Amino acid sequence: MSGTEQARKTAEGLDYLSGFGNEHSSEAVPGALPHGRNSPQRAPLGLYAEQLSGSAFTEPRAHNRRSWLYRIRPSAAHPAFTRTDNGAIRTAPFTDAVPDPNRLRWNPLPQPAPGTDFLAGLWTLGGNGDAAQRTGMAVHLYHANSSMERRVFSDADGELLVVPELGALLIRTELGLLHAAPGEVALIPRGVRFRVELLDESARGYVCENYGAPFQLPDLGPIGANGLANARDFRAPVAAYEDIDGPGGEVEVVNKFCGNLWTATYDHSPLDVVAWHGNHVPYVYDLRRFNVLGSISYDHPDPSIFTVLTSPSDTPGLAGVDFVVFAPRWLVGEDTFRPPYFHRNVMSEYMGLIEGAYDAKAEGFVPGGGSLHNMMSAHGPDRETFERASAAELKPQKIDDGLAFMFETRWPVALAPQAAEADHLQTRYDDVWQGLQRHFRS
Ligand SMILES: [Fe+2]
Repeated sequence: MSGTEQARKTAEGLDYLSGFGNEHSSEAVPGALPHGRNSPQRAPLGLYAEQLSGSAFTEPRAHNRRSWLYRIRPSAAHPAFTRTDNGAIRTAPFTDAVPDPNRLRWNPLPQPAPGTDFLAGLWTLGGNGDAAQRTGMAVHLYHANSSMERRVFSDADGELLVVPELGALLIRTELGLLHAAPGEVALIPRGVRFRVELLDESARGYVCENYGAPFQLPDLGPIGANGLANARDFRAPVAAYEDIDGPGGEVEVVNKFCGNLWTATYDHSPLDVVAWHGNHVPYVYDLRRFNVLGSISYDHPDPSIFTVLTSPSDTPGLAGVDFVVFAPRWLVGEDTFRPPYFHRNVMSEYMGLIEGAYDAKAEGFVPGGGSLHNMMSAHGPDRETFERASAAELKPQKIDDGLAFMFETRWPVALAPQAAEADHLQTRYDDVWQGLQRHFRS
């Protein structure tokens, strides 16, 4: 059986734990999880107890994230890390390119060289803030054609929200296995080690690296107790471990730390957690489960109504980054221009397309591509969409042929030079807003 077939078989019918931010617990071997205490004198089954903290010990209970791991070897048992090549991964602060007020759009990443795995295929578009200050975010894309083999990655700089666009992934994490196909998203918390295996010939998609506060569900206010992304639809893995040890069992562990990649060769797999409990956990979420809310009278609500996850900043309502999805939905507004309106925004918006088409862009915005509308840049429907939507008969209309998303952030997104100079950067994006006719009659 090939590696891909094996991974596919493993990914079928994975068990999950349901809920967002829960105190979950799971054991891959009965009796591996201690009861009544976190750190008994001798942990069950000869395992080592270790706490992994995603927040300061003293953060308020509602924001406190930590998991207790019961593992074959403690994480401390590793050799020194040495610097390795950063590939195409870049990290904030992004100061190498002049911030660009222009509206920008890219085609999908080109084909990678044979043997490119998820980590080698990560390519940074840009970002903001400062990873070492734990503020801001980075936008990455990936294009891979090979599974990570005997190789594990972890990111000390932030959590990783993976948005597959092409090809499903099996993500083996310290806390268990996740299956993430296009239309789903996976989140790997800060510091959690993982390996990505491909379930198809190639895999392409987007990654939001969030340096700031961990993503949480947005408050719902007058919406009430339900709606948008429902907590029960988030799925955390059950414990699963690999017992790879001794000669021939070497595993390369790559650690991203303050913008650089560091590597060490372990004599065992660090994915050796037999049981765990806690709330610093990876998860997957199916975007098709998003409960889309919108106007049933007139006008188009602000797109914040489509927020799946938010990383709050110190200022209420002002997110370090929001993850927003434009999922299939009905449009029923009366006397309303129904596509997203023209606007200028203090926030900065990176948009990507998972499948189909986006209702404000008739062409040029393709799956795997992306657009960047930075702080105060003027944008909105293209010429063709404007003309069509202004003349459309306003009967109920289902938008069901596209799945687009946005990483929306409070700070401008500065580009990595490789994104500013990329061959796949479109040169005539502004054209979509040329030729908007003058209709004014005084
Ligand atoms: Fe916008």
